[in-house]
Amino acid sequence: MKAVILVGGEGTRLRPITLMMPKPVTPVANVPMMFYMLEWLKKYKIEEAILVACYLPEKLRKVLGNSYKGIKLTYIYEETPLGTGGAIKRAQKHMKGTTLVLNGDVITDFNIAKMLQFHNKNCAQATIGLFSVKNYSAFGVVELDNTGSVKRFLEKPSKEELNVEEANINAGIYLLEPEVLERMKYGKKYSIEREVFPGLVGRSFYGFVEKNIYWLDMGTPERFRKFTTDILEKNYSICLAVNGKYLKAAGAKVFKPSLIGGGTRLEKNSSIGALSVIGKNCRIGENSVVENCIVFDGVKIGKNCFLKNVIICSGAKIAEETKITAESILGPNTVITAYSRIGG
Ligand code: GTP
Repeated sequence: MKAVILVGGEGTRLRPITLMMPKPVTPVANVPMMFYMLEWLKKYKIEEAILVACYLPEKLRKVLGNSYKGIKLTYIYEETPLGTGGAIKRAQKHMKGTTLVLNGDVITDFNIAKMLQFHNKNCAQATIGLFSVKNYSAFGVVELDNTGSVKRFLEKPSKEELNVEEANINAGIYLLEPEVLERMKYGKKYSIEREVFPGLVGRSFYGFVEKNIYWLDMGTPERFRKFTTDILEKNYSICLAVNGKYLKAAGAKVFKPSLIGGGTRLEKNSSIGALSVIGKNCRIGENSVVENCIVFDGVKIGKNCFLKNVIICSGAKIAEETKITAESILGPNTVITAYSRIGG
């Protein structure tokens, strides 16, 4: 089976992390986020992933290349964002037979084999992957009848309105038959969730529900942090994170779980606290302390700094004696002068 993956979004909620790199190649524990998704797809023998890209597509292609461990990667480009519906339609010529369609920022261990079985058993023209949660009020909820057929969509319903303990939210995972694509317009901007799915209700359109699985959409800095922590603490089944070859000067300490990329230098008496990730080719100055931080590649931190709860994008330079204690994100190539104070 082939997968169409939507990777065209600008990832505005993740800015400044996504200012110079698209969300799918944002490093999570020093590995491009998309590798976790491709690793999951590999388990289900997906042969080809068609990536529908728009925002910074050349960066995406440069990092991901033309294949991942036997999965062929094909790129389709949009000049302007066409929304989830318009982007899927653009991939139509690659979609023969049943196709898996995914939002490109979903991290999960959703069982695609079971979902496909369910889809085939029902001779569905579309099946939407659903994830049952208690805190559904922030999401689009999908109601099913007792055969699993989709009954209606509700946008962010309150607990009072729905009056149920758990509800099914859209997991951003779809199985689509070619008939669905025939109903969709080419070259227009629209959302499959809002403008196509409601029209499929009552036309062999099903929902497949998973409970107690790992599911996270990496759309915000909080979830980016959560996913990184989950990788370090081994709460997610796929682990690609490994320490690189780094240099540790006398007295430098590294507390676990943490991760350090190759080519990085930890100068004398520096300290890397638990739940920190340091990218490749970074320098952590003498006596500097880095706690619960995510540091991308090529970041230079001077001596006697204290940094806590900071995400630092690639190429940033933080001069000596800086203290940052406020939860914060420093964008790509940020320069912080000596003795700066951010937070208490
Ligand atoms: P925000 O700007 O922070 O909302 O993030 P986003 O741009 O990623 O949007 P959202 O999280 O709603 O998108 C869900 C998935 O659909 C992501 O994987 C996006 O890359 C993808 N996506 C959203 N809009 C488009 C689009 O117009 N074209 C393509 N190809 N993909 C899209």
